[in-house]
Amino acid sequence: MNKALRKAVIAGNWKMNKTPAEAKELIEGIKPLVGGAGCGVVVCVPYVDLAAAMEATRGTNIGVGAENCHWEKSGAFTGEISADMLAAMGVQYVIIGHSERRTYFGETDVTVNKRVRAALDSGLTVILCVGEYLEQREQGVTSELVAMQTKIALGGVSKEELGKIIIAYEPVWAIGTGKTATAAQADEVCATIRATVKELYGEDSANALTVQYGGSMNAKNAAELLDQPNVDGGLIGGASLKPADFAEIVKAASR
Ligand code: 13P
Repeated sequence: MNKALRKAVIAGNWKMNKTPAEAKELIEGIKPLVGGAGCGVVVCVPYVDLAAAMEATRGTNIGVGAENCHWEKSGAFTGEISADMLAAMGVQYVIIGHSERRTYFGETDVTVNKRVRAALDSGLTVILCVGEYLEQREQGVTSELVAMQTKIALGGVSKEELGKIIIAYEPVWAIGTGKTATAAQADEVCATIRATVKELYGEDSANALTVQYGGSMNAKNAAELLDQPNVDGGLIGGASLKPADFAEIVKAASR
């Protein structure tokens, strides 16, 4: 499996942080530090910050993403945002199936699949999150679980459409805890995801798939994680809110 066949992507997931004015300020801080990046750079921001982020990143190498989208195009779904609405704004990426959505907002593999389908239909690139809880790792079911999450989420997705999917492996126990998976643990599960995609779509598709690691990735540990053969990038929470740290991770992915 040749890493050179695929694109490294570092994406920030700002979660529920930053007002529009603060978003503009943060992006202005990031811009000069990542201008020459040798990898894809994306910031996924709260819905209310999307307009400011689109404006601040115009003409730069920074892509903009949302943190979720609904599966219907429109209708009586108070508080929801459709993939079409995001695409109409010029948004290019959307995170789907983040563990915080699964844990706190009742997302299931089935609703994740519906959202993936809707995002692809609207032309968005999906950052699909999968990952296990600590108890599941301790029970030894990580591989089966992550393979199952991947398979269900990709239901109805064609081989051509897979080019618009990035999969992020985020062990839930490593998110926001300062507890990073070891490089070997991250690589092993990213390899499982790639093997699952190979089973579904064949070797070429598996080789071309960008698989990110997420979970307390920071300026210090990024290089070791990103050096792993199956880790093609990162989905960054806390460290994406600090321009210098985020830029350091981008640099590590650009080598
Ligand atoms: P942290 O980098 O803050 O652990 O968050 C990871 C994450 O959930 C990215 O989606």
